[in-house]
Amino acid sequence: MVHTSLIKINSKNPESAKVQLAAKIILSGGLVAFPTETVYGLGANGLNPIAIRRIFSAKGRPTNNPLIMHIGSIDDLNNIAEGVTERELTIAKKFWPGPLTLILKKSKNVPRISTGGLESVAVRIPNNKISLSLIRAAGVPIAAPSANISGKPSPTRASHVVEDLWGKVDLILDGGRSAIGLESSVIDLTSQIPVLLRAGGVPYEKIRKVVGEISIHPLVTHPEKCSMGHNGTHKSPGMRYKHYSPKAELIIVEGSSSKVRNKIQELSNQIRKFEGKKVCIMSRSRNYGYYADMIMYMGSDFKTSGRNLYDILRCADHNKVDVIIAEGMEYKNLGLALMNRLKTAAKQVIKL
Ligand code: TXA
Ligand code: MG
Repeated sequence: MVHTSLIKINSKNPESAKVQLAAKIILSGGLVAFPTETVYGLGANGLNPIAIRRIFSAKGRPTNNPLIMHIGSIDDLNNIAEGVTERELTIAKKFWPGPLTLILKKSKNVPRISTGGLESVAVRIPNNKISLSLIRAAGVPIAAPSANISGKPSPTRASHVVEDLWGKVDLILDGGRSAIGLESSVIDLTSQIPVLLRAGGVPYEKIRKVVGEISIHPLVTHPEKCSMGHNGTHKSPGMRYKHYSPKAELIIVEGSSSKVRNKIQELSNQIRKFEGKKVCIMSRSRNYGYYADMIMYMGSDFKTSGRNLYDILRCADHNKVDVIIAEGMEYKNLGLALMNRLKTAAKQVIKL
């Protein structure tokens, strides 16, 4: 058991003494959980293999699932990536700081343990004052996965990190709620035609406008094929593992609004009456006034839904909900990432 400290830090103007303390812990091989604009990250010195190993054991993460390197400036890119071309720089300049992770050829400075043995490396500059001041104060890239126990929903509040990692990390910086609430989008730039490996904070439509031709990995839209033993190639090793799951069983119902509404109410009645289980409905449509059950309202626009998703999944667990029934949504804008996360966590997807 590690002694964990929890410190509140100002998100608009991070106090220098607190940032220095966190940077010192990083440089001495410790683990610091810190807020980013997407989700909280579990950070260690990205150049220190022993510190990086601690990340994997704290999270219970398989060691072949590589980490993202967080840097503080585009000038640092050449330290960790090789052969960065005009194409990559244009994309980086357009989206950084921000929720887009680029997969590039790794440089020899990057320890193999952080890339899970791959020759490529994932990099991004987060758009959050606390993360940026921490990375700059430490003066090293910070390797950071989401700060949750492997398989659980990503943390969007410091309290979620406390729940998962208390006694496993040295410091948790509490900088309030994550603004986006969904992880970064990940694109692979090691092939001629870029591939979207993970839908996330930057919508696919925006990426395509800048990148031009880009393909979408099939598991982005059909993550269920992975758990069902889909034998396509796993470009991103993270795709192999179950993710984002609440303890409650999750069922998604997709289709036209009125059909979905009726089906959800019917299902919910059945589960409550005949199985005696506690049900909660995740809604983001006008239907929410119609249901007779406990409702978790996600918000009508994609941004609000994105911000609320993981919070709601964790909240359902706190309320000892047995079954969550979620309305499906359009696979566009942040809906692509939202549906990906829901389907990855779901036990059943019903299409009407
Ligand atoms: O928003 C985010 O990306 C957050 C914050 C903390 O930055 N981080 C995050 O990290 O979500 P993590 O480890 O939970 O997810 C990283 C994803 C995984 O699916 C991993 O497999 C993939 O990126 N990845 C990392 N390095 C890769 C590589 N070299 N090639 C392909 N995929 C890679
Ligand atoms: Mg994660």
